[in-house]
Amino acid sequence: MKIFKSIEEFIISKSGLGKLTFIPTMGNLHKGHASLIDIGKEFKNDVISTIYVNKLQFNDQNDYLRYPKSLDNDIELLERHGCNYLLIPDDTILDEIISVKAPSKFNKLCGKNRPGHFDGVLTILNKMFKIIEPEIAIFGKKDYQQFVLVKDFIKENNLNIKIIGAETIREESGLALSSRNNLLTRNEKLIAKNINKVLIDLKDNKQTISLNFINSKIKYLENLGIKVDYLSCCDPESFEESYNINEKDLLIAIAAYVGNVRLIDNIKLTKL
Ligand code: PAF
Repeated sequence: MKIFKSIEEFIISKSGLGKLTFIPTMGNLHKGHASLIDIGKEFKNDVISTIYVNKLQFNDQNDYLRYPKSLDNDIELLERHGCNYLLIPDDTILDEIISVKAPSKFNKLCGKNRPGHFDGVLTILNKMFKIIEPEIAIFGKKDYQQFVLVKDFIKENNLNIKIIGAETIREESGLALSSRNNLLTRNEKLIAKNINKVLIDLKDNKQTISLNFINSKIKYLENLGIKVDYLSCCDPESFEESYNINEKDLLIAIAAYVGNVRLIDNIKLTKL
């Protein structure tokens, strides 16, 4: 794997590279990221990944500062999965960056209690898309709103990029893989698996989905010591609250704190 340690270095070599499939990351890579590389390798293009902890998308400075870093392991994982190029931009990527504002529907769910988060994600991705000019970009669907955000942005700006959403990879317990899982204690991990259990239970009983049902699950999680930021049953495109499972597919999305660690997950309910 060829590693570019700056944007300048990448730009010098860029004309010699073929068509690219892009997998942006913030490092601390795990099997979820590995699955994105594996999906990328199914296409004929070379795969390029980036590792950049984007301070623009953190509304909490502490969260940014304690974001886990493990560059050597990350490089090893990328090489093992056949990633062709790794770009590690430094903060000059922020020079003359054009701020992008996320549409108002992204003020819901993760956007509600993390003001500016999705603006920061779009701003950095817009710059990365311009630098890398990928043909394909792959995003995990654990960050479901982020996936829709980028999908809409690509469509609205007529970018010539095909976006692919990859299914969430989970631990055996059902806990969605996340770089933040490393911050959980053993006991917190045991508690955290209830997040996915609740989603599965809601899905298994989707014919009775209602606000009361959702609220009972919030109570259940809070009794286990999990602080629920939101648990929402909504339209998967507009994120408007909805329980109309007879008419359309719905999304159940959750963000919750186990200890100090904010975890997210979601599940799709197909229409009855
Ligand atoms: O999902 C992430 O890791 C980040 O939001 C991304 C897409 C790399 C942008 O900084």
